[in-house]
Amino acid sequence: MVKMRQIERRKLDHIEVALNEDVASANNHWDDVKLIHCSLPEIDLEEVDTSCVLFGRKLSFPLIVTAITGGYPNAVKINRNLAEACAELQIGLGIGSQRAGVQHGDDGSYGVLKDHDIPLRIGNLGAPQLIEQGTKAKFHEDDIKTAMEMIDAHLLAIHLNFLQEIVQPEGDTHARGCLDAMRDAAKRYPLIAKETGAGISRDIAVRLKGIGMRGLDVSGTGGTSFSAIERHRAQKVGDAHCAALGRTFDDWGIPAPVATVWANVGIPIIASGGINDGLQAAKGMVLGASCAGAAMALLPEAMESAEKVMEKLRIMQSEFRAAMFLIGAKKVSELAGKRYILVGETKEWLSQLKAEG
Ligand SMILES: Cc1cc2nc3c(=O)[nH]c(=O)nc-3n(C[C@H](O)[C@H](O)[C@H](O)COP(=O)(O)O)c2cc1C
Repeated sequence: MVKMRQIERRKLDHIEVALNEDVASANNHWDDVKLIHCSLPEIDLEEVDTSCVLFGRKLSFPLIVTAITGGYPNAVKINRNLAEACAELQIGLGIGSQRAGVQHGDDGSYGVLKDHDIPLRIGNLGAPQLIEQGTKAKFHEDDIKTAMEMIDAHLLAIHLNFLQEIVQPEGDTHARGCLDAMRDAAKRYPLIAKETGAGISRDIAVRLKGIGMRGLDVSGTGGTSFSAIERHRAQKVGDAHCAALGRTFDDWGIPAPVATVWANVGIPIIASGGINDGLQAAKGMVLGASCAGAAMALLPEAMESAEKVMEKLRIMQSEFRAAMFLIGAKKVSELAGKRYILVGETKEWLSQLKAEG
């Protein structure tokens, strides 16, 4: 039997834990955002145009299935199902971390994206891997090129995942120097910065824009908690220390709708973290995002078949179209101007941030 590398085992654990344990944040903050019903839209439902252009690529509606997996045997099936569905629906797809692919070569689970006509393909590497982590060597610019070529990427997401790294028993916790490394990489490659469930604040967004990031996937709290995922992994191996850390930080981070508004510094924002349906995607757009992103919402379907993923995406698109119709928006570009009401924690966050300037 072929022995699994640690990195492959970790990727498999993430999928198994995400599917079998409760890894959702305590609250889905999109519930705090209320859109205002328009009882006389004066447009026909079929006139509603859900298409948009993002990073120069045309999508049938503003959604990206964001990074989930790659780099271990079963990931081929998951990524093939996602790729086929995203090509069919003409929406964006981000691949999971390509660290394994860059270090050990593509096992086919990344390159499978190239077999499908996906309008926006986004590669993925971690910011911690751009600097040295103890004895672990850092990735160089050629590695970024390798990652991009592996999936014929239009963009590469550099993920920011220090919440995950502090809970992970084998975590990479050196963060000093990431910004400079990202700045250097952004001079040669089209990059976006992407959180992984803890959100991006305004000051960090300003810095990321300043170093040349083309967009920000805010990935705030409200959906998958990576602290919870790593806590379950730690529990499984009897690591009480990391499990305790994970429990304490389970709900750590900036709520997704807050990050969507607060990190908007004039480059495209991908609203993500707890987006499970098309109405929540529309809420993100009304708050000023250029696109929405969802990961966990598609994972159970991706385990099954491309048809199941398509079914789910079609429902999300219909919900998105219905939301546009019911608030009287004919084009996606009209969404950002629509009024909304905030309640609960999201309102508290944004009113305090506004008061502080
Ligand atoms: C099983 C799983 C694996 C993930 N792996 C990655 C990854 O490799 N790289 C990354 O940038 N984000 C990764 N993410 C984070 C997602 O892309 C997303 O930012 C986060 O889950 C919040 O979105 P959600 O609430 O829609 O799941 C992963 C998420 C899940 C559920």
